[in-house]
Amino acid sequence: MKKSFRLIETELAIYREIDSITLEAVDIKAMLDRIMDMVIKTIDADAGTLYRLDDNGELVFEVVKGPVADRLRGEKMNVCDGIAGWIARTGMPYVANEVVNDPIWNKEFGSKTKYVPQDMLGVPLKAKKGIIGVIEVLNKKEGQPFEKRDLAILSALALRIATILEKTRLFLELERSVKQFTTLAEVGTLLNSTLDQKVIRKRAMEAITFLMNAEVGSLLLVDDENRELYFEVALGDKGDKVKEIRLKIGEGIAGWVAEHGEPLLIKDVSKDPRFYKSADQKTEFITRDMVCVPVKVKDKVIGVLQAINRLEGIFADDDIKLFQLFSNQVAIALDNARLYEEIRETFFAVAEALAEAIEKRDPYTGGHTKRVVHYSLAAAKYLNLTPKELEFLKLSAILHDIGKIGVDDSVLRKPGKLDDNEAELMKMHPMMGADIMRHVKQLNDLIPGMKYHHERPDGKGYPDGLKDGEIPVIARIISVADTYDAMTSTRPYRKGLPHQTAIDEIKKYAGTQFDRDVALAFVKAFEQGEIGGGL
Ligand SMILES: [Fe+2]
Ligand SMILES: [Fe+2]
Repeated sequence: MKKSFRLIETELAIYREIDSITLEAVDIKAMLDRIMDMVIKTIDADAGTLYRLDDNGELVFEVVKGPVADRLRGEKMNVCDGIAGWIARTGMPYVANEVVNDPIWNKEFGSKTKYVPQDMLGVPLKAKKGIIGVIEVLNKKEGQPFEKRDLAILSALALRIATILEKTRLFLELERSVKQFTTLAEVGTLLNSTLDQKVIRKRAMEAITFLMNAEVGSLLLVDDENRELYFEVALGDKGDKVKEIRLKIGEGIAGWVAEHGEPLLIKDVSKDPRFYKSADQKTEFITRDMVCVPVKVKDKVIGVLQAINRLEGIFADDDIKLFQLFSNQVAIALDNARLYEEIRETFFAVAEALAEAIEKRDPYTGGHTKRVVHYSLAAAKYLNLTPKELEFLKLSAILHDIGKIGVDDSVLRKPGKLDDNEAELMKMHPMMGADIMRHVKQLNDLIPGMKYHHERPDGKGYPDGLKDGEIPVIARIISVADTYDAMTSTRPYRKGLPHQTAIDEIKKYAGTQFDRDVALAFVKAFEQGEIGGGL
């Protein structure tokens, strides 16, 4: 009576223990270890094993208690073998009162481990998806046989343990997914925060290793002309060497993915005939497992992403899904950047064509626009402009005299000096240029540079008589470049000044006609030989 009371108390304690397990910061190994200790104590057995049924149909000795525990821990047994295998296959409990004579006892395994228990009681661990393992207790103390009551206790415990295991698995899976998708969202934002293809490719590379938990990540791009794939960048220890490799479409695993436009998961590349060994030979790198997905834009494969050697375990089916989602983001970012680049190039070409059309009307200023662009950019080198400002500067310089389109031919093409009236008409070109630009929203940012390229720091310029800092920096730069070209160009009514004389003029009028800093930068560029006539 006393004994059974103690048993009930232990039984209750184990239930309390199981129920107190929370899912935060679970150390599943330690938890199972503690539970097995209590199970053995409750049943009054000598030893016990908790097997986990893995994806390959093997029973892994996850927790082992008893005299030969150290020998068995981590071992595996095929689910077709032995008593535990029978329990896992049938989902039924099993009692073996005399193990050594039991027909399903795995003798081979027994002799291998040099351990034959006296008797044994085992029950399956059942979860929603089916059997996930087996729990066994061995050798009831004092030579007693296992009783119905033991089976009842073990079955009840198995039910709770299975529930805990399932919850833990789901929790860990969920936690992993949340982490992965958070990373994916962050990477997506990062990829789309730039329109520079090079930056996107580099960021994509860097993201693979941490998103996929991989040793190395690489992006191969399709070279349509040669029907080849090439490594644009590859990070990781051997990254530099990987850069040089080219593959034919259809060659190797990446080549297969490019040809078929479908992802591939290779758990062991050494067993896959598609694996292209020379990549590893060239880099002295050993590829074990990999996930490879196509980078597609509107069904066209533009590249292939590879994640090589998972850092913990090997890649699984879930990794393909995640990697493909990532690849789609890379594709969108690369395509956006390509479109932007195309629009930008078209825009520059149109702007240049427009500027050229105007120059054609004025035969005396041939090449003026090109020179103003060149001089402006040369001076800008010494002025700490942002890449965006530089781009605006280039475009504004191309288009700075676009307003001349509205100046009458009789004025624009007049071979002689302009009279006051004509000069006034000519002075309207910055305003007219700004008016033209105002119609195109995307070009509004160019207006200040164009409209004010004839303003002067001393307020004597036009059209608004702005002073010093009121004049946008881009306009201040174009102003110096424009005047320098006007001074050095030969007109029908006067000969162009020598370059050095024009530079002296710029120095002389720095602070009045020209912005002081810009004039200084211009002179510097001239002295460095970056402006026509210098050095
Ligand atoms: Fe002008
Ligand atoms: Fe000009």
